[in-house]
Amino acid sequence: MHALKSPDLHYREGAACLQTGDGFFRRDSRPSRDLSVLLAALQVSQAQRPLRWLDLMAGCGIRGLRWGLEARQIAQREVELWVNDADPDRACLLAANLQSLCSAPALTLRTSHLAAERLLRQAYLDQTFFDLIDLDAFGCPNALLQSALAVLRFGGVLILASTDGRSPTGHDRPAAIRRFGAAARAHPASWELALRLQLAAIAREAWLLGRGIEPVACFSDGRTFRLAVRLRKRAAAREEAQLGLLARCERCGDQAVQSLLKLSGWRPCACEDGLGRWAVTGPLWTGPLQSPELLQALLRLDPLLAGSLSPAGRRLLQRLQKDAGQPVCCWSTAELAKRLGIGGPPALQALVEALRIQGYQAQVSGVMAGQLRTDAPMAVLLQQCVDLVAEGR
Ligand SMILES: C[S@@+](CC[C@H](N)C(=O)[O-])C[C@H]1O[C@@H](n2cnc3c(N)ncnc32)[C@H](O)[C@@H]1O
Ligand SMILES: [Zn+2]
Repeated sequence: MHALKSPDLHYREGAACLQTGDGFFRRDSRPSRDLSVLLAALQVSQAQRPLRWLDLMAGCGIRGLRWGLEARQIAQREVELWVNDADPDRACLLAANLQSLCSAPALTLRTSHLAAERLLRQAYLDQTFFDLIDLDAFGCPNALLQSALAVLRFGGVLILASTDGRSPTGHDRPAAIRRFGAAARAHPASWELALRLQLAAIAREAWLLGRGIEPVACFSDGRTFRLAVRLRKRAAAREEAQLGLLARCERCGDQAVQSLLKLSGWRPCACEDGLGRWAVTGPLWTGPLQSPELLQALLRLDPLLAGSLSPAGRRLLQRLQKDAGQPVCCWSTAELAKRLGIGGPPALQALVEALRIQGYQAQVSGVMAGQLRTDAPMAVLLQQCVDLVAEGR
């Protein structure tokens, strides 16, 4: 799969100037690379000891190169940078692109062409641990989760990508069971549910190792699902309560959520004739999707890293920073308006404010455009839409 056919001889991004080659490369993934640079820079700004970073599926090496050139501007810190791609045909390109790092002070570069699973397992045998692992995979990365988490330091960050959109969005239900051990059903907030299924998969693997997780940032463009998760030495109190099920009735649009810890029967949905049926997705992660504090800390680093954060990257971080991802139930205002038979949807922000005035939690979704999240019952939401549209808002 080659996103860019003709080699781009001198592609510039942040402080990097490199050849992208004729392998896989996407310019429009830049915001995710910007995020990885800021996460690395935050580690440089906070660490009291040498750091070790792993770009596990490096492609042309752009992430590792940017970490080496940009994140280390923050402070003098010893860094061991591992850059790996299984494809041996990438060796010359990687060597050429990373050349400028070979003489960089306080940086040790290690380039390899190993299958990810082999590198991770060897690192475990050697007891080599990383502060940052970027796993930018094709398809579903879940087979690598256990071995990646096993070599991540406590407090370290796993940056994960999945291009498996079909199974966690309910379009390939048997594959969702195989890959996530979960039911996945179609839902207007399908990208968010896919991210929550992915977080649940990460949490289960971390828990098996006796660890806990803290989501840092989760987002998607509908094609790639991207997550950054911090590994905790131990699970937080009642972290297991964050695993739950989300139900939605396709007929009336109602939603309900339950924690697996307190799982009991489902209440009836809003169908007046009682004939509605819940379609249940999960187990999925029902806790926060983002760490607003950590994202704020990343945004504060931006002026110190001239040129690392692109306008699109900044917009993404600002959007995510405002939405921690709670409560879980997301609603599309276009869908609500359609169900009500009112022309257009009310303004998203006006709806959020009206629900807050009534004492409900409400927030514009940072994950999908045109959606809000709230704990208000559907009847309240619908009435509020009617009132706002009547007021012309
Ligand atoms: C999505 S691309 C990486 C893009 C790159 N991180 C970027 O930001 O431009 C995935 C890369 O993973 C490599 N790859 C695929 N399977 C792998 C495996 N099992 N182990 C290591 N590398 C692998 C491919 O050769 C490909 O270059
Ligand atoms: Zn119903």
